[in-house]
Amino acid sequence: MKTTIDQVSNHVGQEVTIGVWLANKRSSGKIAFLQLRDGTGFMQGVVVKAEVAEETFQTAKNITQETSMYVTGIVVEDSRSPFGYELQVKEIEILHESVDYPITPKEHGTEFLMDHRHLWLRSKKQHAVMKIRNEIIRSTYEFYNNNGFVKIDPPILTGSAAEGTTELFHTQYFDEEAYLSQSGQLYMEAAAMAFGKVFSFGPTFRAEKSKTRRHLIEFWMIEPEMAFMDHEESLVVQEQFVTYVIQSVLKNCKLELNTLERDTTKLEKIQAPFPRITYDKAIELLKEKGFTDIEWGEDFGAPHETAIAESFDMPVFITHYPTDIKAFYMKPDPNRPEVVLCADLIAPEGYGEIIGGSQRIDDLALMEERYEAHNLTGDAYRWYLELRKYGSVPHAGFGLGLERTVAWISGVEHVRETIPFPRLLNRLYP
Ligand code: 4AD
Ligand code: MG
Repeated sequence: MKTTIDQVSNHVGQEVTIGVWLANKRSSGKIAFLQLRDGTGFMQGVVVKAEVAEETFQTAKNITQETSMYVTGIVVEDSRSPFGYELQVKEIEILHESVDYPITPKEHGTEFLMDHRHLWLRSKKQHAVMKIRNEIIRSTYEFYNNNGFVKIDPPILTGSAAEGTTELFHTQYFDEEAYLSQSGQLYMEAAAMAFGKVFSFGPTFRAEKSKTRRHLIEFWMIEPEMAFMDHEESLVVQEQFVTYVIQSVLKNCKLELNTLERDTTKLEKIQAPFPRITYDKAIELLKEKGFTDIEWGEDFGAPHETAIAESFDMPVFITHYPTDIKAFYMKPDPNRPEVVLCADLIAPEGYGEIIGGSQRIDDLALMEERYEAHNLTGDAYRWYLELRKYGSVPHAGFGLGLERTVAWISGVEHVRETIPFPRLLNRLYP
């Protein structure tokens, strides 16, 4: 019977055939251990010389890395492997012999691996990270679908900038100029006025000249937007969402977390509610921690975020940033207009900001004022102002960066390993 590695637990003691690639191998004169992978998982195949045809044993001994084949054998339980099963191989049918596979079990440099990303994805660690990414995506849809949100897809080609004009990719749209979306937010606000609670999940583009372990040029963002909700209510959705995703990964990706040697005790502790500190308090905390030159009004960089996060073993919300360093659409605090009703969620363990969110300005006159202050003239934004003209309501929303979240949960150092084909400052290949 034909099956896949993720299904073998249903076939213990039975003979099965699995289409696989050879990940690795070790053999002696009498026995060959084949590390097999089929896309669904990794499993050891054992070929015992005395139990198979001579030709089959010779084949097993000589198979090269990444050769594709059908293997047929008996599934047995194996308590020594974390996977729990192995295959006692009886027959091997080679499909295609792989010659000189470039990624060998020895250590390779990052640039070499990135140049071979199309092959590197086959490795056990990369497989585990992508499975965790997939679980985060799956549980995100589940969370929002269970909580009355409608998935809305904002456009990728746009005529307006959501997050400032300096980091836009420009493109020609027939005889107009267009940009690749840096955030679907403005469109999601329109959608919230039509559907109440909405979320988007798609690629976004930032022409940022940043070369850090947290920055991608193309990344995926989850952007919920909620009508009749204020800043505080939005924080509750955010902490519940993040907790839900963590719990789902802990439950459904045990093997992958184990492969990555992730310390899961740190993740198990993550439970809503998350601590909240104001920007003012964060400045004080930073001064205490030795950042003596930081001044009120400055934005935080990665070292600041890491230092703040160290004081908590949970993700922490930093709220009420200075109005001047945040986006034009954020609602100033009515009691203190020099700060806005916003929060960034900072992940523990140095992974930095994973969510940026805020309550939006719902007053037309104020929004017009902020438009002017930010030089947002032109027709491209007219529709956005109209949302404040026809039944404006308090509303709030946020964006969670998928790759930073995958990096944190998987415990991998750099976001380049959290997306199948990363787009980086110096990389468009493969
Ligand atoms: O803080 P940002 O820029 O917020 C927005 O775009 C809002 N319009 C979202 C909203 O309210 N709907 O980006 C949100 C998140 C960040 O917290 C971070 O996780 C991620 O997107 N992000 C990046 N991830 C990888 N590479 C980059 N260059 C990123 N820029 C932002
Ligand atoms: Mg931000």
